[in-house]
Amino acid sequence: MDTMEKITALAKRRGYIFPSSEIYGGYQGFWDYGPLGVELKNNIKREWWKSMVYKREDVVGFDAAIIMNPTVWEKSGHLKAFTDPLVECKSCHRRFKVEDAGDKCPECEGEYTQPKTFNLMTEVLLGTTEPKEKSYLRGEITQGVFVNFENVVNSSRVKIPFGIAQIGKAFRNEITPGNFTFRSCEFEQMELEYFVSPKEDESKKIFEYWKKERIDWYISLGINKEKLRFHEHAEDERAHYAKYAFDIQYEAPFGWSEFEGIHYRGDYDLKNHNLSYKDQQTGEEFIPWVIETSGGVDRAMLFFLIDAYSEDGERIVLKLNSKIAPYKVAVFPLLANKQELAEKAREIYLNLKSLSLSCIWDDRGNIGKRYFAQDEIGTPWCVTVDFDSLRDKKVTVRDRDSAKQERIAISKLENYFKAKLQ
Ligand code: GAP
Repeated sequence: MDTMEKITALAKRRGYIFPSSEIYGGYQGFWDYGPLGVELKNNIKREWWKSMVYKREDVVGFDAAIIMNPTVWEKSGHLKAFTDPLVECKSCHRRFKVEDAGDKCPECEGEYTQPKTFNLMTEVLLGTTEPKEKSYLRGEITQGVFVNFENVVNSSRVKIPFGIAQIGKAFRNEITPGNFTFRSCEFEQMELEYFVSPKEDESKKIFEYWKKERIDWYISLGINKEKLRFHEHAEDERAHYAKYAFDIQYEAPFGWSEFEGIHYRGDYDLKNHNLSYKDQQTGEEFIPWVIETSGGVDRAMLFFLIDAYSEDGERIVLKLNSKIAPYKVAVFPLLANKQELAEKAREIYLNLKSLSLSCIWDDRGNIGKRYFAQDEIGTPWCVTVDFDSLRDKKVTVRDRDSAKQERIAISKLENYFKAKLQ
């Protein structure tokens, strides 16, 4: 099995990611997140929100509707220009993105047609009477922020430079979804639109600042630095709204791939929506320029899983950073059938849970099997209650990555884990 097959199998076996509607054969380009997947995803989003909103003075949060007035998409240029060039196999008629196509069809070795452009927007029909109104599932979460620019400025005390952060679902008619969740038709984005004065030098500096902030964020959550790099978009790679753009790329098993885009959108969007900004102090009115950081939640989760995956003989260890690991602590009695051990362990487990620490209880099999299972789902610490615990009021805490064990007083567990999670 190659690494992607191993990760896909682990994700399903342990409840991270399942194919969507699997009992009916799945649905290409769509995925469901299991009990561990939803925790990992929520933790990634929470860490992003903390670093992009809570820790800053110059960013406010936002949450727009998924379906908007179709005029938004006309004005934003998406109906005309949000396209991918595709080639079609002349014999089996399968379509491929030009960048993925190769020389011949991978299915039947057929020849390709000349490239044609296809729009990525997903259409929806709304209303109860005919003819129904055509609208779109948003192709990027961004436009909701732009069309609410004045609402946010007028209702909050933001002043240029400032940012609006948002996390939410986006949808694209991807012709070749693949590489597990890497390219899906439904996915989540976490984006910042940062509005700056229309000044060349200043905006370039701010662009560089955000590039660094964003790559550092991934490193701070444990992604191997060596597997990250910037890739500057050539003119023909840039989206229709971007004047220049860089991707943060990750070296996945399927090659260097886009993790997050840092786009310089200039005044493209606000101008198209006929919006501007008035400086309350100077009275000066202008169209701000926009620097955007746009990452995918599902893609981040996939790369965190790939990066954390390690094997040590038979043992698989998901070395997820403790801040994003689904469970922080697993608690178990050394022997499940010894009532006094089980009672003490349960008391500790419930106490840790009451502190909003995400914990899991495990009393199946023997201790070796439990460690094996917790390593595979990425739980950073295991707490075992043994016979000595009843006497010395201490437990064994085992660290996932080093497999080292320490005796910690039960009364000190709360502070011990709090310190580790800072
Ligand atoms: N608002 C800008 C924008 O949407 P993008 O480069 O098209 O820019 C940003 O998308 C991020 O969204 C990507 O870097 C990626 O992480 C994620 N993304 C885009 N298309 C995706 C897809 N089909 N499946 C999963 N994630 C996707």
